[in-house]
Amino acid sequence: MANSADLTVDGKTYSFPTLEGTENEKAFDISNLRDQTGYVTLDRGYKNTGATKSAITFLDGEKGILQYRGYSIEDLAAKASFLGVAYLLIYGELPTQTQYDKFESDIRHHTMVNEDMRKIFDGFPVDAHPMGVLSSLVSAMSAFYPDSNDEDNTDLHIIRLLAKLPTIATWSYKRSKGHPMNYPQNKLDYIQNFLNMMFALPVEDYTVDPVVVEALNVLLILHADHEQNCSTSTVRLVGSSQANIYSSISAGISALWGPLHGGANQEVIEMLENIKADGGDVSKYIEMAKNAKSTGFRLFGFGHRVYKNFDPRAKIIKKAADDVLSKLGVNDPILDIAKGLEEAALNDEYFVSRKLYPNVDFYSGIIYRALGIPTNMFTVMFAIGRLPGWIAQWKEMRENKEPIGRPRQIYTGPTHRDFVPVEKR
Ligand code: CMC
Repeated sequence: MANSADLTVDGKTYSFPTLEGTENEKAFDISNLRDQTGYVTLDRGYKNTGATKSAITFLDGEKGILQYRGYSIEDLAAKASFLGVAYLLIYGELPTQTQYDKFESDIRHHTMVNEDMRKIFDGFPVDAHPMGVLSSLVSAMSAFYPDSNDEDNTDLHIIRLLAKLPTIATWSYKRSKGHPMNYPQNKLDYIQNFLNMMFALPVEDYTVDPVVVEALNVLLILHADHEQNCSTSTVRLVGSSQANIYSSISAGISALWGPLHGGANQEVIEMLENIKADGGDVSKYIEMAKNAKSTGFRLFGFGHRVYKNFDPRAKIIKKAADDVLSKLGVNDPILDIAKGLEEAALNDEYFVSRKLYPNVDFYSGIIYRALGIPTNMFTVMFAIGRLPGWIAQWKEMRENKEPIGRPRQIYTGPTHRDFVPVEKR
């Protein structure tokens, strides 16, 4: 690879160093571009901009590769536990048994939420979207842990976040149902605890189904990190001002909520339900999506900023959806509509030429539905899965002492004008 790249501007040639990542990703280092040339780059949506160097997640969108700390997503989904993957992302290596036991036990013993935080739930309308509640309560955690910016306690804050997010998430759901909130139980593991808090009722016994635990384990692992996406970049950007970890993660939750990002999983199910209610004719919706510019309709769960051949997570999820539905004996007509839509799109020139394939969100909602998780909780499930990735990225950004994030712009407003007193306007 060349060690430098030349740029000729206004008749003068400047040389910029190039660099290469461990998986051969190549970049121009333009850190001194403005100082040297007076120009900045314009890259709306950051489609070509590397915002940082990171050793956490590698993905190759053309080849459909996704690796956390060098381990392939296929291997991790088949062989690891979600908390093992969380440890890997945050601390860089798969944990030894001793490390895992301590990590798991620490999380298990921090799941309770301050009773005053519990009272905050009463201030929300019962029909509040659980993502709004989740982001508010995570932000509120900084008020309950005023040492949240103390770097010596970072590991403790990480444990608190991992431990309490499922408690807060399930409480927002319970409140929306008008059901009593369940306290966490230390005898249960991470996923069992989540399910118990979510579904147990005071009036009858709830037994955690191992098929459901296994399915959730895979789903959470698949969502655990995805390098510099919208919510992760938000976490890093907010954290770069040295805002505390709770505020930074809360901002990430808000960014994830949008329908073009994590909110797509809710949109997918609502779209499939609409197609079913409309008679199940997928071709009509394919045509609407092809005319997105005039109809404003997109096929949710299709397309990805970086995956342009297939999303490796979607491959695993599609198979998991078949397995889970058959193991649980669920016959969901929406799965057939999803498969019909996928087949029609993959054979349509519009989708093929734009490299639009099902993404991770296309089939995840179908599994969540089969597990009994309500639609407005789907993006919350994504947030629980993505939490270790956000934490790892926040921690890396702090440890690398990255400067505050501060993009430039090309100003297009009015040039200087004199102030006009109100009576003359
Ligand atoms: N349905 C129909 N057309 C689409 C779709 C879609 N889902 N996605 C992209 N296109 C078209 C788009 O209209 C454009 O066409 P043209 O070249 O004629 O103008 C072309 O494909 C490129 O689209 P883009 O918006 O420039 O692509 P992007 O890389 O900026 O956007 C995306 C990526 C994921 C936001 C987009 O594909 C999308 O809106 N998908 C639906 C929402 C979704 O499923 N989001 C979840 C992403 S995966 C989970 C996550 O990581 O958050």
